[in-house]
Amino acid sequence: MNDIAFHLNGTPVCVPADDPTRTLLQWLREDRGLVGTKEGCNEGDCGACTVMVTDDQGSRALNACILFLPQLHGKAVRTVEGLTGPKGELHPVQAAMVEKHGSQCGFCTPGFVMSMAVAQKNGATDHDDYLAGNLCRCTGYAPIIRAAEAVAGTQAPGWLVEALPEAGPVPFAPTSSDALANWYAAHPDATLIAGATDVGLWVTKQLRDLPEVAFLHACTDLQKIERDGDRLRIGAGVTIAALRKAVSGTHPAFAELLRRFASEQVRQAATVGGNIANGSPIGDTPPALIAMGAVLHLRRGATQREIRLEDFFLDYGKQDRAAGEFVEAVTIPASAPGLACYKLTKRFDQDISAVCGCFAIGVEGGKIANARIAFGGMAGIPKRAAAVEAALTGKDWTLATVTTALPAFATDFAPMTDMRASADYRLETARNMLIRYFHERAGQAVSVLEVTP
Ligand SMILES: Cc1cc2nc3c(=O)[nH]c(=O)nc-3n(C[C@H](O)[C@H](O)[C@H](O)COP(=O)(O)OP(=O)(O)OC[C@H]3O[C@@H](n4cnc5c(N)ncnc54)[C@H](O)[C@@H]3O)c2cc1C
Ligand code: FES
Ligand code: FES
Repeated sequence: MNDIAFHLNGTPVCVPADDPTRTLLQWLREDRGLVGTKEGCNEGDCGACTVMVTDDQGSRALNACILFLPQLHGKAVRTVEGLTGPKGELHPVQAAMVEKHGSQCGFCTPGFVMSMAVAQKNGATDHDDYLAGNLCRCTGYAPIIRAAEAVAGTQAPGWLVEALPEAGPVPFAPTSSDALANWYAAHPDATLIAGATDVGLWVTKQLRDLPEVAFLHACTDLQKIERDGDRLRIGAGVTIAALRKAVSGTHPAFAELLRRFASEQVRQAATVGGNIANGSPIGDTPPALIAMGAVLHLRRGATQREIRLEDFFLDYGKQDRAAGEFVEAVTIPASAPGLACYKLTKRFDQDISAVCGCFAIGVEGGKIANARIAFGGMAGIPKRAAAVEAALTGKDWTLATVTTALPAFATDFAPMTDMRASADYRLETARNMLIRYFHERAGQAVSVLEVTP
């Protein structure tokens, strides 16, 4: 089997491909002694392990703790040790962090400077968004944001231009959906790994052994977003970051929901296919996709089939997916004018939904012509609010109709109480989301970032 080949801080490295679920963080710290990349949470939450990964698509900030070594084949990795110049010059973000007093205990600092260096290289200025996945417990964010602002719009230093290694076939990674389909049909018990933002935690937190794996990141034909008439076909391997960018003009409500999906580091790795296939009741894309009338494309060997996305989720932990079958794509309408998505979390940034409600109500001549409403966090699966939809459809689009439909939420959902929210709170907020949707459609915008008396 080929070695895993990549560049580390400008130098070619080869790693034997004998342990495909060894994380980059483990390898950096334990095998290479590069301990500048910190281990905080080891589950993608804190950003202390952020590194810069460059491939032919550009540079991304990723969490090394949930990045498996085969995912780096053919790429260039830069850690905080490789950020300074050849003569030891500080990178501009390091200099700005010193200048603006952006570091106190320093534990979070390598992760912050790596995120900031990637942002500077890419010309990003949405500092609050791209730093939402970096947690600092002691400095406070104001000096760090000042440092980010100080370097925004400046040139990245020349020493960060990366060469990519010549790399042969990727170990454990089919390079097309055809190759994947053949391999997976013959190895139906294997674990597929796309972005590893869920699977990574099975390894780092649940200490699971994954005897047989296949990585999906080399199936470039699964990473396309294509317009097909009045539909948009989104490949399973499209990352949340790429999807957010692609739909920002056509599906602004969906794009805004994706802005609040995890953090920049996670969005750059996580895929749409993984978000659907994991079957989580609190995944963020399924409620929005279901509200838009998404169709799921599944494939096993040469056999392809299409189902409505809502029919994929059968029960908690159970999906309509046969052994050896994988998600190929999901299709949605090319635009979604009436769509609104509300994500309710304990914290605004980088948090998993307690309730995620998505609404697409069509109004014609003052009457509700059609209604598609779907929720995450309200049942064991992402689920449509069929009784609420029925209570609305055909009625006048008025607050009175909305109010009359509210009791139907209790017919659709018997949510659970957990550490994120109580059952009563979930039901109440779901009802409130419909009222909010009505007011927003009437032009009364609501900002959850504003507190009014
Ligand atoms: C810190 C953090 C924050 C997060 N925040 C959010 C959040 O705000 N909202 C949210 O929805 N999720 C969140 N997640 C969960 C996770 O990022 C998403 O579920 C993500 O979309 C998973 O995609 P992936 O490509 O990383 O999947 P992987 O981890 O690679 O795989 C997930 C599952 O899907 C299977 N799989 C992957 N691709 C396919 C395919 N094409 N066909 C069949 N099976 C497949 C895998 O075998 C596995 O069972 C968060 C995760 C972390 C670590
Ligand atoms: S160690 Fe916390 S995100 Fe990796
Ligand atoms: S400087 Fe201490 S955690 Fe950020």
